[in-house]
Amino acid sequence: IKKITSKVLQNMKDKGEKISMLTAYDFSMARIFDDAGVDVLLVGDSAANVMAGYETTLPITLEHMIYHTQSVIRATKRAMVVTDLPFGSYQGNSREALTSAVRLMKEAGAHALKLEGGQEIIDSVKRIIDAGIPVMGHLGLTPQSIYKFGSYTVRAKEEAEATLLVQNALALEEAGCFAVVLEKIPATLGKKVATALHIPVIGIGAGKYVDGQVLVMHDMLGISKDFAPRFLRRYLDLYVQISNATAAYVSDVKGSRFPNEQEQY
Ligand code: KIV
Ligand code: NA
Repeated sequence: IKKITSKVLQNMKDKGEKISMLTAYDFSMARIFDDAGVDVLLVGDSAANVMAGYETTLPITLEHMIYHTQSVIRATKRAMVVTDLPFGSYQGNSREALTSAVRLMKEAGAHALKLEGGQEIIDSVKRIIDAGIPVMGHLGLTPQSIYKFGSYTVRAKEEAEATLLVQNALALEEAGCFAVVLEKIPATLGKKVATALHIPVIGIGAGKYVDGQVLVMHDMLGISKDFAPRFLRRYLDLYVQISNATAAYVSDVKGSRFPNEQEQY
């Protein structure tokens, strides 16, 4: 099996081949996704929401991210595994950022790391890259800054914020990032950034003109119930299917229909 690396992703962009990326947090799902040919598995700090039930991504810790990454890494043969540096583990200063980054690479076995932000975290980005660790940027709607934004609405609709986003994307490329994620921005801006940058640009709610797409697995599979932004396409309605299967199991147990003769010793 040919493993996906930052070099492979760059070749994909150069050839116009789109990059597929999906979040994963545990061994069993990561194995299915890797087997099914997902190029990049993101151990997102969205684990705070979908795995732990927190309102925002802020509470998740470096230890939690290490645990999730270890589980995903054990299942992965082909995909590149990228892990989010959690809130508070890299914004303070670049030394702390490197310490957090090294733990995720060393203890968890991540292949690359993702950090939210542009110019304001560029020292951390550079220091981590200087240590030989591939870094993916993340601009647009950056959920770790939700209390600054005040809402999860589309970012960079205004000229000033769009201009700043392009500058930050160029700064991240200049700093040596191997890819950038753009979250919830106008498709025209996504196209502009994907054209301006040589490195791959992966979108979530950033339109069709970027170099690849990423979704949170629980959203893509229809497990999350009330989350229905415009950008989301649900490929299954797993909430309903799992709910029905569970109700059938409960009913069979209550009605003494499970187990049957063949299902006992
Ligand atoms: O944590 C996450 O799931 C992410 C993606 C939405 C890009 O950062
Ligand atoms: Na994230």
